[in-house]
Amino acid sequence: MSMVYAQRMNRVPRSFIREILKVTENPEVISFAGGLPNPRYFPVQEIAQAASEVLSRPDDCGLQYGPTEGYLPLRQYIAQRYRDRMGLAVAADEILITNGSQQGLDLVGKVFIDRAEVVAVEQPAYLGALQAFSVYEPQFYTVPLLDDGVDMDHLEHLLGTRRVRLFHTVINFQNPSGITYSPPTRRRLAEALGRTETVLVEDDPYGPLRFAGEPAPSMRTWLEGQAVLLGSFSKIVAPGLRLGWVCAPRPIMDKLVIAKQASDLHSNFLCQRILYQYLMNHDLDEHIATITAAYQRQRDAMVQAIESHFPPEVTFTRPQGGMFLWATLPASLSALDLFERAAAQKVAFVPGTPFFLDNGGLHHLRLNFSNAPEDRIEEGIRRLGAIMKQMLVQKA
Ligand SMILES: Cc1ncc(COP(=O)(O)O)c(C=O)c1O
Repeated sequence: MSMVYAQRMNRVPRSFIREILKVTENPEVISFAGGLPNPRYFPVQEIAQAASEVLSRPDDCGLQYGPTEGYLPLRQYIAQRYRDRMGLAVAADEILITNGSQQGLDLVGKVFIDRAEVVAVEQPAYLGALQAFSVYEPQFYTVPLLDDGVDMDHLEHLLGTRRVRLFHTVINFQNPSGITYSPPTRRRLAEALGRTETVLVEDDPYGPLRFAGEPAPSMRTWLEGQAVLLGSFSKIVAPGLRLGWVCAPRPIMDKLVIAKQASDLHSNFLCQRILYQYLMNHDLDEHIATITAAYQRQRDAMVQAIESHFPPEVTFTRPQGGMFLWATLPASLSALDLFERAAAQKVAFVPGTPFFLDNGGLHHLRLNFSNAPEDRIEEGIRRLGAIMKQMLVQKA
């Protein structure tokens, strides 16, 4: 019997990165491929302690069903951080706890995207957003990223000629490029979107992981009724908890809550309780400071190794936070070819192609710097650089 599947499944790409991660299961491989936080900084003992405290309250231990919106004290905690750290007037009822911010993307898609509607994404784009939105069968338009954020001339032209349902941005230390929107680009983006009904999805799992430069305002500063913010505990506590949130104005929140209910009733309530207990027992900012100091050292190690070992024709971003750096090869070199040769020498990265919807990205590589220790970073980049030099000689 041949199984018949819903049409929409033909349009949803398999995650290329999950496929690559299979290669990197071999511990000998130096992997710059994953988007994995450094497990050294998972607060294992602290979470164990928090779990034991929560489970020692038999009448209130989080094993019962909970509210769809999430555990109220946790939502209050998140809203308070928006107020204190970003000066945003966010109330707890504008926060919905989700299974990571990835579920936030799915819920946003469910609530906003009808078939064939226009969804604008950055180019290169976050793969998980492409995958989540694809299920709702939109028409994707891509807008190139420049050094200081999205190409506003391009986006303004698109907004002027198409009815764009939503625009997805990773505004800080973008995955895959490491690019951050400058304050002028943010203001111009707000002005352009403010003239439309386009919903802005500000997907910001990396914003707290800033190790250099000044933080810039969230788009909600200007677009309160139109901006949907996605946040996550994955990169600042641990991704295995699968806890993130959506921050949205109340009318949008009403719809998101219905969508969430239909999906899974609510996120794991026990985990929410344990996470909240952990946050009450410890200063999250201190923990984030430890992680960012480490990522800065790892980023520095990668930048220095690239400067020493890559051919000078290769350009690359120098992110001020987050977990990724983006390198561009000379036009004569293919990133896929490099990937094959690097895999043979036990180094992995993600070639640029899956992040592009137009068959582009042939000369780009995404390099994750948060997962490998500094000496392995140096060695992996040295091997990559040697292969690139060999390829250049062969092309000459
Ligand atoms: C830009 C972006 N958004 C969302 C996610 C999903 O993260 P999570 O579901 O773990 O919160 C990721 C994960 O790498 C990401 O890079």
